[in-house]
Amino acid sequence: MKASTPLALLGAVSGVSAFWRMECRGRVGVARIDPLVNPGEVAQHVHAIHGSSGFNENVSFDDLVNADCTSCAVTEDKSSYWAPVPYFKHANGSYELVEQVGGMLAYYFLFGDAANPNGQIKAFPENFRMIAGDSLRRNFSIGGLGAKIPDPEKSLWSLLGQTSQVDLAQRAVGFNCLNYQKNPEGSLHRHYMPEKDYLDANCQDGVRIEIMFPSCWNGKDLDSRNHRDHVAYPDLVMNGDCPKGFDVKIPGLFYETIWATNAFAGQEGEFVLSNGDIQGFGYHADFISGWKNDFLQEAVNTCTNPSGRIQDCPIFSIQDEDTQRKCGMKKMPSALTNEKVIGSIGNSLPGNVQIQYGPEPATNPNPGPQTTTVPVPTVGYSEGVKPTDTNYLPGQIFKETTSSSLESASATSTPATLTPAEESEAAFSAQAEPGITAAPEAPAAVEDGYEVIRTDYVTEGHVVKMVIVKEKVEYVTVTTTTATLTSTTQLLKARHDRHAHRHQHRHARP
Ligand SMILES: *[C@@H]1O[C@H](CO)[C@@H](O)[C@H](O)[C@H]1NC(C)=O
Ligand SMILES: *[C@@H]1O[C@H](CO)[C@@H](O)[C@H](O)[C@H]1NC(C)=O
Ligand SMILES: *[C@@H]1O[C@H](CO)[C@@H](O)[C@H](O)[C@H]1NC(C)=O
Repeated sequence: MKASTPLALLGAVSGVSAFWRMECRGRVGVARIDPLVNPGEVAQHVHAIHGSSGFNENVSFDDLVNADCTSCAVTEDKSSYWAPVPYFKHANGSYELVEQVGGMLAYYFLFGDAANPNGQIKAFPENFRMIAGDSLRRNFSIGGLGAKIPDPEKSLWSLLGQTSQVDLAQRAVGFNCLNYQKNPEGSLHRHYMPEKDYLDANCQDGVRIEIMFPSCWNGKDLDSRNHRDHVAYPDLVMNGDCPKGFDVKIPGLFYETIWATNAFAGQEGEFVLSNGDIQGFGYHADFISGWKNDFLQEAVNTCTNPSGRIQDCPIFSIQDEDTQRKCGMKKMPSALTNEKVIGSIGNSLPGNVQIQYGPEPATNPNPGPQTTTVPVPTVGYSEGVKPTDTNYLPGQIFKETTSSSLESASATSTPATLTPAEESEAAFSAQAEPGITAAPEAPAAVEDGYEVIRTDYVTEGHVVKMVIVKEKVEYVTVTTTTATLTSTTQLLKARHDRHAHRHQHRHARP
């Protein structure tokens, strides 16, 4: 099975695989405002806010739609899009906002529910609200493997029992290492912020932070108490089957923002999100729909050009980039007008948010300062699949181009796909013996230089499948006489002589 298969399959099972890419070149503000989590108050941490200029700490649908502008390209889109921002903490303890490159991109994927292939996609109702991710999360808990092991092939997720909503929400967050000299990495390949040394060595064009929202809805609630319970992920995060009770498919929102972490190359310090998270497991994002429902439904039904270009949708009115950049929030709460959140901001995060390392959930309000640190794992660079007609999932398309026109920005884009090229083989051995559940054979002998680090057994009907995760071990001596362990993990097909291709590099501390 090739990496592109899930995408091809996706088109086939869901019927429609169209999407569009909402460009929001402007940012209406950077502030501690969060009308979902802290309505009417100053929020705990800073967000970068895009979309309607009517955004405020207790925003209503009327505020959004009646606003005089949007920082996004389509003037009919008066939605609000917001998410935390990364700061750089210098070695001397002072914080500086990492520069955002090019605004924000919000994909609207029009993927059907694989469990209900004839179902339609319903536009967000007016004032629809939701949050993706969990600001208080400080660990990666899927499958007991941690974030350093690349995700298994998607076809294995359900077999491995990794399709709970909590699992899917963690796989919905990505930190993409940007190096435009190389083929792009796949989206959602790495679920944590790479450590500083890794960024310096590999990500010369910065980091693209990504988050996928749930796209299955309970069909009735505009919001829920925790802003999550009325929606759910399909079982492959972006596509797949919607869970029972969440049978209404809504557009699949996917945010991308690019941050110039490379501006700090060679400087001592660490990156930290505005919510006090250095690993990125607590990255999250918020949305309020400011579209008129009828208009959005028409867009969902008719803007199905596989190019993804908003210019290819005749009903959208498009404004140029400068106009998008000129749009800003109208009402800044008085408590925040003097809060410094951009540039160098002094020795604490805005709101005096403390870094909390986990693995236990962060507390809110903030505790006192913590002194422990945790090493951040490292998943190596992995190229995404080369774009073809059928795989055009997010990535890479938002790098700034020299031209300022939307037209050329879209034309020069080179979409990458969801699945890294080298993660191509789903690897397991299968024994099909009708009527009995056979015990899998012991794994084939592991070649020299490899070590089995984990074996999972999954049962599907009468078939027991064995998933072997093995690791290639190499020792490299570096000049300081410290040994650095580099390992390559492969998921192997035990009984079929095929090669799997998963790479990761891990730095063991001496
Ligand atoms: C926020 O707005 C809603 C509706 O406009 C109102 O009922 C509520 O009291 C407001 N809350 C705060 C804290 O201002
Ligand atoms: C800390 O270091 C940064 C980077 O060198 C510098 O810009 C900043 O002024 C320093 N802050 C203090 C308080 O020394
Ligand atoms: C990992 O994070 C989850 C969600 O915050 C939490 O429920 C769980 O207790 C954490 N695990 C550990 C070992 O702290």
